Amino acid sequence: MPFDQYHEPPEELPQKTRTFARMIASLIEEAEAIGWYEQRIAVEKNRQAKAIMQNAQKEEFKHFGMDLEFLLRQKPDWRTELKAILFTKGDIVEAGEKAEKKVD
Ligand SMILES: [Fe+2]
Repeated sequence: MPFDQYHEPPEELPQKTRTFARMIASLIEEAEAIGWYEQRIAVEKNRQAKAIMQNAQKEEFKHFGMDLEFLLRQKPDWRTELKAILFTKGDIVEAGEKAEKKVD
């Protein structure tokens, strides 16, 4: 069983940090799955197979969102920054720059 999510000896890490690392790994896996489905959907010619994969990709959106919400509840500064970036309109880089100033 791989333990790639740890960059420090796991036995030295508090339980909360190990859980955080697992959820980061999970978030990455959900993002990868979204990307993999995007590619498969783009090339699939069979209408029914494509519909099934589109449905599966929506599940991954939900999983990604739940993982992210869990992580944001652990890191209020991260939430503060994302509130200034996500679900906004206009220039994303500008929003990112403004978000950075909200946390110090
Ligand atoms: Fe998933």
